[in-house]
Amino acid sequence: MNRNKVAIIGCGNIGLSIIQGLLKEKTIPAKNITATRRNIGELASIRKSGIKTTTDNISAINESGLIVIAVKPYDIVSILEEIKDHLKPEKHILISITAGIPISQIRDLIGNLVPVFRAMPNISSSVGKSVSCICHNGAKEVEIEAVKNLFDNVGTTMTIDEDLMQSATILGACGIAYVLRFIRAMIQGGIQIGFDAVTASAIVNQTVKGAAELLIERHQHPEFEIDKVTTPKGCTIVGLNEMEHNGFSSSLIKGIVASFDKIEK
Ligand SMILES: NC(=O)c1ccc[n+]([C@@H]2O[C@H](COP(=O)([O-])OP(=O)(O)OC[C@H]3O[C@@H](n4cnc5c(N)ncnc54)[C@H](OP(=O)(O)O)[C@@H]3O)[C@@H](O)[C@H]2O)c1
Repeated sequence: MNRNKVAIIGCGNIGLSIIQGLLKEKTIPAKNITATRRNIGELASIRKSGIKTTTDNISAINESGLIVIAVKPYDIVSILEEIKDHLKPEKHILISITAGIPISQIRDLIGNLVPVFRAMPNISSSVGKSVSCICHNGAKEVEIEAVKNLFDNVGTTMTIDEDLMQSATILGACGIAYVLRFIRAMIQGGIQIGFDAVTASAIVNQTVKGAAELLIERHQHPEFEIDKVTTPKGCTIVGLNEMEHNGFSSSLIKGIVASFDKIEK
């Protein structure tokens, strides 16, 4: 099995994000990465970086060991039908990042010959900052290591139970959108209190990055750090409480649950 050769089958938004992250990290040489989609012109930018691009899913599979399926849920059945006879035990590991398709359904379509994983990265793969949740169903240690290594190239990786993959999709993959909307609102507030948009963005982006790194490095609960910022009767607590009166935490939690309800349907 060549674990240093990767095919991304269906290279759209998330496929491109992963490839951009791999190009940045450089552990896997560009010539060892093959990306496919039907509208191949859309992949011109990565082709210039040395990535092989093709419309031929079978040739991509024949050249690679790690096969990442990155198509939309409505395309995965036809893709699996197309490639299944070309998957070889000892050579291939199949990794589906398609949301909502269980390993059992993939196995029903392709059989039991090759190891099957699901993975849920997010678009910050492109800057090496994804959190990628992976799961499998009794894979060997060496196979788990190969899949983990792939996603470690674009951020951090954690193995979870398959039962939690829908939740991982909401919290990690959709989560990026929630955070970006929060950032946008902070910037709008910053402009209203006097900054131009560029300066407001710079302050907010670094503040959000700093808050996340504080929690990652210190392993503290957010409220522990919030207590350090909230002087009694001060401006921070007044603002925070005003946000809560207007449903700040509640609206975020409701949004996450609404997304989850939608994905579970
Ligand atoms: N976007 C995210 O943040 C994210 C994060 C984690 C997981 N996911 C999951 O990843 C999957 C893809 O999401 P996405 O946002 O990247 O969608 P997307 O941008 O639509 O990418 C899917 C790509 O698959 C290609 N495709 C479709 N049929 C194909 C075929 N027969 N052969 C080769 N390529 C084919 C399409 O390109 P052509 O039409 O040119 O073939 C398209 O660019 C979804 O299931 C999603 O849930 C997405």
